[in-house]
Amino acid sequence: MPNISRMYFITAICFLVAGILVGLHMSITQNFAATGAHAHTNLLGWVTMSIFGTFHALNPRGAGTRLAKAQYYVYTGGVIVMTPALYLLLTGNPSMGPVVAVSSFVVFAGVLMFAAIIFRARAE
Ligand code: HEM
Repeated sequence: MPNISRMYFITAICFLVAGILVGLHMSITQNFAATGAHAHTNLLGWVTMSIFGTFHALNPRGAGTRLAKAQYYVYTGGVIVMTPALYLLLTGNPSMGPVVAVSSFVVFAGVLMFAAIIFRARAE
């Protein structure tokens, strides 16, 4: 497995643990205000990162490029900032709005970079 796949799966499982902890906390307290943060942590973190890691494992020729590494850091950095900021926003901290907004665009930039990786991949 290419190193970038390993990095993505390690990061993804951390987000799954964090996302499930938020889900369990909501269930136990019966306060569902953070549902959006729980869903985005699991879907942008666990699910999407696992798909990125799987793509690199299936296309190892493109996995070692500078674009692949830069994409990992842009996307992961965006999700690391966005998900806790979204949690704080939804649980009563409106000042987090601009942080969520800016980090959302960083996540989107990471997605566009991954689109470039997909389009540049050649059939093995
Ligand atoms: C033990 C694991 C999990 C627990 C305890 C949990 C708990 C919850 C709770 C309490 C809600 C709010 C439900 C409501 O508002 O009525 C929720 C919503 C949601 N969860 Fe989870 N969850 C878990 C795992 C996951 C995973 C792995 C994913 C995705 C990969 C996920 C995706 C979602 C989504 C998308 C919603 C929003 C659903 C909606 O608003 O219609 N959850 N979860």
